[in-house]
Amino acid sequence: MFKWRRKSVASKAEAQECSTDYQRRNALPRIPETQSALLLHAIRQPYELRLNLPLPSIQQDHELLVKVLAVGLNPIDWKAPDYNFGIPILPYVSGREYVGTVVQAPSDPSSRVRQGDVVIVPSTDYRDLRKAAFQEYSIASASNIIRLPTHVSADSGATFGVAFVAAALALGICMGVNFEDAEGGPDLLKIVKAINADHLPEDIRQECLGGIPEGDRAKRGDYLVVWGGSSTCAFVMKQLARLAGLKIISVVNSGKHGLRISSHISIRPDLLVDSHNPDRAVSIIKSATGDAARFGFDTQGKDTAAHLLRALASPGTATPTELPLAEDYSDFKSSSAGKLPTPPSTPSEPSVATNQRSHLIGLAGLPKKDIPEDVALHSVPIKLFHEVAEVGEALSVWAEKLLVKGLVVTPDVVGTVEGLEGINDGLNRLRKGEISGGRLVAVLES
Ligand SMILES: NC(=O)c1ccc[n+]([C@@H]2O[C@H](COP(=O)([O-])OP(=O)(O)OC[C@H]3O[C@@H](n4cnc5c(N)ncnc54)[C@H](OP(=O)(O)O)[C@@H]3O)[C@@H](O)[C@H]2O)c1
Repeated sequence: MFKWRRKSVASKAEAQECSTDYQRRNALPRIPETQSALLLHAIRQPYELRLNLPLPSIQQDHELLVKVLAVGLNPIDWKAPDYNFGIPILPYVSGREYVGTVVQAPSDPSSRVRQGDVVIVPSTDYRDLRKAAFQEYSIASASNIIRLPTHVSADSGATFGVAFVAAALALGICMGVNFEDAEGGPDLLKIVKAINADHLPEDIRQECLGGIPEGDRAKRGDYLVVWGGSSTCAFVMKQLARLAGLKIISVVNSGKHGLRISSHISIRPDLLVDSHNPDRAVSIIKSATGDAARFGFDTQGKDTAAHLLRALASPGTATPTELPLAEDYSDFKSSSAGKLPTPPSTPSEPSVATNQRSHLIGLAGLPKKDIPEDVALHSVPIKLFHEVAEVGEALSVWAEKLLVKGLVVTPDVVGTVEGLEGINDGLNRLRKGEISGGRLVAVLES
């Protein structure tokens, strides 16, 4: 049960409820005793719609209760049950992003968020079932709330959250982009380095504090190659990268997506490269940039990330097994042209321009072998958004500003399904590869 539509403007009824830059709903329904939710009882099973379940409960001062209006369907919502990963407990509640109305606000009077605000919630905290989107009511942290601007519909807002968080952290942490000149955005590396290291989750501490040396950080004029440039995350990534002054090369199936992407004012890249022949794509990237591309973002998986790796590596760069022994390193260094390999231990002090490494960020997988010494691999430390409030708040406030000013637009809604009961059908369409160029959205209440 789905229907196709592309919608980016708020409905008249929604617009009438707006007073300032953000949407609000003043007449709030009574909070019921029970709710409906989708439960996953076993791996490789459809979700089951259950009625009369308890509402999730607020447990901390900074938490709020949100009535879900529209849910963006993500690849993880079908991949996790099909491939048995990211399911910490059964029965499980999924759903990673939504738009909803705040029905119970945080007790802190200085909070940005008030009861009645219509908000975008990127629900990255998949271990906390209270925060999942596949239910009528959900819990969110105040620092993870992006208020919905008046000109953005609830359906469109539901496509934005996960892509924004993934793209902003990939750029700001893994590539070291400083967004301070982009509408007063955050310098995320500065924020995480100012935090007591013990307060950063252990599994992402190295990425946050030592992932990229100061001298390697991406800056205005640098090239960013996005492989899988048709994806929703790429859609937001390209806009943020453009705001930071990066030059964008987008690798896509140009027969399928070329015209749409090259004629879309918000995501048109500096260079569009067809992905059909990966060797040719790598060679085009290398010759067009004079072998100067140092930043890559792959949205597809380890095979395409491996192609991207070749596009970022210096010509003739040895992989670790081929490298000379450490004592011979100076000879190797003096004979290499262009981007020089970094010595085996990466210096934590600012590096000089001559030994900058390239940086490859894999959203859906990274190559495991044949990694040249001059390319560092990164995974996006997505949990920074919900585990470190300073980061979550900085990103959310910046997102509000960018959306209100129209400096970033939301990905396309390429179809909708009705209610929680439509989600299994919608996920089947994602499984079959029928959804591309945007998100399918489940509309719970219009
Ligand atoms: N690590 C993280 O923190 C993180 C965060 C967000 C996303 N991700 C992952 O990053 C990847 C991209 O996410 P996204 O939300 O940007 O993706 P998306 O927009 O939902 O889809 C990206 C593209 O994948 C292709 N596709 C669609 N269905 C498919 C299927 N069943 N099998 C194979 N290909 C299919 C389509 O490309 P074509 O039209 O060209 O075929 C589609 O445009 C996903 O694997 C997602 O799980 C990871």
